[in-house]
Amino acid sequence: MRRALVTGAAGFVGSHLGEALVARGDSVVGVDCFTPYYDRTVKDVNASTLRSSGVELVEADLRTADVAALLDGIDVVYHQAGQPGVRPSWSSGFGEYVEHNVFVTQRLLEAARDRGVRRFVYASSSSVYGNQARYPTRESDLPAPYSPYGVTKLAAEHLCSLYAANWGLSTVSLRYFTVFGPRQRPDMAIHRLCEAALGRGRFSRFGDGSVVREFTYVDDIVAANLAAADADVAPGTYLNVAGGSEIVLRDLIALVGDIAGVAVAIDEQPPMPGDSPRNGGAIDRAQALLGWSPQVPLRDGIAAQLAWHRAQEVRR
Ligand SMILES: NC(=O)c1ccc[n+]([C@@H]2O[C@H](COP(=O)([O-])OP(=O)(O)OC[C@H]3O[C@@H](n4cnc5c(N)ncnc54)[C@H](O)[C@@H]3O)[C@@H](O)[C@H]2O)c1
Repeated sequence: MRRALVTGAAGFVGSHLGEALVARGDSVVGVDCFTPYYDRTVKDVNASTLRSSGVELVEADLRTADVAALLDGIDVVYHQAGQPGVRPSWSSGFGEYVEHNVFVTQRLLEAARDRGVRRFVYASSSSVYGNQARYPTRESDLPAPYSPYGVTKLAAEHLCSLYAANWGLSTVSLRYFTVFGPRQRPDMAIHRLCEAALGRGRFSRFGDGSVVREFTYVDDIVAANLAAADADVAPGTYLNVAGGSEIVLRDLIALVGDIAGVAVAIDEQPPMPGDSPRNGGAIDRAQALLGWSPQVPLRDGIAAQLAWHRAQEVRR
């Protein structure tokens, strides 16, 4: 039986991944320290769902935890833990980003090398690209982060590549393009749009709504992780994982309203420093190397996420 470690398992992506791994028969250890980036009760619900599905969930902070012990007997590490979000990564917030995103990744890579882990899959980000001259971005484009968050995600990706180059550790970095779906983080646009569509406040729109984003449904992200764990690829590989759903924010607001059957109330706010005007990724490399392509169209995914938000109302 394969034994996997999912870091950040109580978070949005990590909780879906943990469940999928258990469902296919893997033995799964999850680790999370329940950072206060958003309400802990949300992560507690994810954690109890995971525990009941059969994941062994350890509460530990990877900045200080005995990572060698955590990696004992592990074949594949799915490293999802991190401090997410662009906007709080400025000013005094930056230290948290360096610690959770860069330092933690280095600790895990050291232990993975020493323990002979078979594959180390890292949750990288489209934010490594920053603003590019042409879209969709390709892995051959030079990364140029536009936010402190993006700098830390790229630094951790470089750490993966250099552990691969120096030590032959079999790393694969997946550059996620804006993930959405049930359990999406409360700070993310589709989450806030769904809440606004259900009459729970107004949607704060930063800037004039002209930014373009490519969204990727969480099940497709999970599928890319599973494929990345087993694919026959060179150590240090990095790949775009993009959902094929590029949309202007203004149109996204209208789409959520259309699915919900109400116009979303908007609270106009100035643009946020660090928010790139556009993201969008070419996925030829992931298709060729992982045999992966996204399956869930934006409209279907939003309908599923909205249904999840409605169900939260029942729980409250
Ligand atoms: N959601 C997206 O659109 C997106 C896009 C690109 C990249 N990513 C990356 O994917 C990963 C998962 O993102 P998410 O949206 O699920 O975020 P999330 O905040 O929901 O999950 C991350 C989890 O990691 C945990 N964590 C952070 N630091 C830790 C530490 N030191 N020790 C143990 N646990 C720790 C947090 O408590 C949290 O539960 C992150 O690395 C993020 O940078 C996400």
